Amino acid sequence: MTTYNWSRGIGSTITAVHDHGLAYMTEIPGTAFCYHISHSNVVPTHRGKGLGSLYHRERLDHIETLGATLATCVVNKNNVAEIKILQRNGWKFLHEFPDKEREETLILCCRDIGEVPYKADQQGESENDI
Ligand SMILES: CC(C)(COP(=O)(O)OP(=O)(O)OC[C@H]1O[C@@H](n2cnc3c(N)ncnc32)[C@H](O)[C@@H]1OP(=O)(O)O)[C@@H](O)C(=O)NCCC(=O)NCCS
Repeated sequence: MTTYNWSRGIGSTITAVHDHGLAYMTEIPGTAFCYHISHSNVVPTHRGKGLGSLYHRERLDHIETLGATLATCVVNKNNVAEIKILQRNGWKFLHEFPDKEREETLILCCRDIGEVPYKADQQGESENDI
């Protein structure tokens, strides 16, 4: 079961609390119902069982019910599991930039909400890869 705790305000954040994970969905300041999804996490003992994919789709469904039109996120270029999830769910990979603190490469991603069909059953790379 997933519960959603929502407090409204500038940069208001919804916390998605799943049975075995969580994520934050923060309304992008200056927009109405465009969300930046961050800290997506499945507890280590439950990873690799499809929960990350399931929770991801649940969160997209939830913000769609709120009337969202766009979601953004940032993913580490080396994060194979999360990149697979994003590719299969219609995200665009917009821009690579450095994480100076960790000396790693991050990717800014976005996804239209409400119009892009899920690609959960399809294999292969996203056509929108950078
Ligand atoms: C990223 C994360 C949420 C994925 O959750 P998960 O429950 O393991 O994801 P799933 O089981 O749905 O797997 C998604 C895909 O990644 C693959 N995968 C999972 N773990 C993997 C790993 N360690 N290496 C390579 N591929 C992996 C799965 O096989 C699956 O691909 P498939 O559909 O082709 O089989 C989880 O690993 C996590 O919490 N990581 C730490 C926090 C993090 O990196 N969050 C992302 C912030 S942007």
